[in-house]
Amino acid sequence: MKKVLLTGGNGFFCTRFASHYKDKYEILSLGKKELDVTDEKQVLDTIMKFNPDYVIHAAAIAVTDYCNEHPDIAYKINVKGSLNIAKACKEVNAKLVFISSEQVFNGNIESGPYDEFHKPVPNTVYGQNKLEAENLLKEIIEELWIVRFTWLFDLPERGLNINANIMWNTVKSILKGEKIKAPVNEYRGMTYAKEVVEVFDKIFEIPYGTYHLGSKNDLSRYEVVKLIFEEMGLSERIDELLFKDSEKYKENPRDIRLNTDKLKQYGIEFKDTNEGIKQCITDYKLNL
Ligand SMILES: NC(=O)c1ccc[n+]([C@@H]2O[C@H](COP(=O)([O-])OP(=O)(O)OC[C@H]3O[C@@H](n4cnc5c(N)ncnc54)[C@H](OP(=O)(O)O)[C@@H]3O)[C@@H](O)[C@H]2O)c1
Repeated sequence: MKKVLLTGGNGFFCTRFASHYKDKYEILSLGKKELDVTDEKQVLDTIMKFNPDYVIHAAAIAVTDYCNEHPDIAYKINVKGSLNIAKACKEVNAKLVFISSEQVFNGNIESGPYDEFHKPVPNTVYGQNKLEAENLLKEIIEELWIVRFTWLFDLPERGLNINANIMWNTVKSILKGEKIKAPVNEYRGMTYAKEVVEVFDKIFEIPYGTYHLGSKNDLSRYEVVKLIFEEMGLSERIDELLFKDSEKYKENPRDIRLNTDKLKQYGIEFKDTNEGIKQCITDYKLNL
């Protein structure tokens, strides 16, 4: 059995990965308490001891506002922590998957979808951290896949972590009877986390390099939220709970979608966002 070490093991992605692949790989999934990626010695000792075939480096501070407000902490974890992981991987000949983000394109004026050759212009600390880590890691280790995620969505599951995402945010607001403000001028890739996890082992078989991963999406953020209402059989509550925000991003529409054709060449593909949303609602039997 191949050995996989996960950093950020208690997070949204890793708890799903570990649950899905528990019988396929010997997995060591370490939360911040067991493995603080900023501790260079602890990182080296832990990786040397487990001697993994693969390391999936998912640990990060991924909250954009927090990173902007605490750039030093963000840099220490998102950049220096990633360097510690890469150096340790190099030491034991482990192959590394670094999870990056669509947010590296947040400052690009031109619209997405962006492919892997497009020059990223990050304008947040989080996006800058991810891009800097990508570039530094390439100098340290050749056995490296950089995988830029779109925005993942899912619903809470027992024992698994959940983060803010379009599906759960919408369902929570509906449960609380709170109004949702959704921009019509915002376009992002939004991908069902289950789909991402299910194809993730294929990454280990493709050439090293940078890849964009996730769903194509032709719907604005407003249209995605509306679709969730409709698929849940709650169309009659749209007027009451969903506010169409036409002002936000009016002057400069936000479009940070990723072109994921490169991965498609290797047989790794995803449903479009609208299909992923429908699948998620069906899986959780929320189509009332
Ligand atoms: N989810 C998405 O939509 C999305 C989109 C694009 C990219 N990504 C990237 O994908 C990766 C996984 O995302 P996710 O959604 O699973 O994020 P997540 O739930 O926030 O998981 C990240 C984990 O990293 C841990 N962590 C923070 N500081 C650490 C440290 N010093 N040492 C070790 N672990 C530390 C966090 O622990 P605490 O919670 O205890 O701080 C958290 O459990 C991240 O790199 C993220 O940037 C995610």
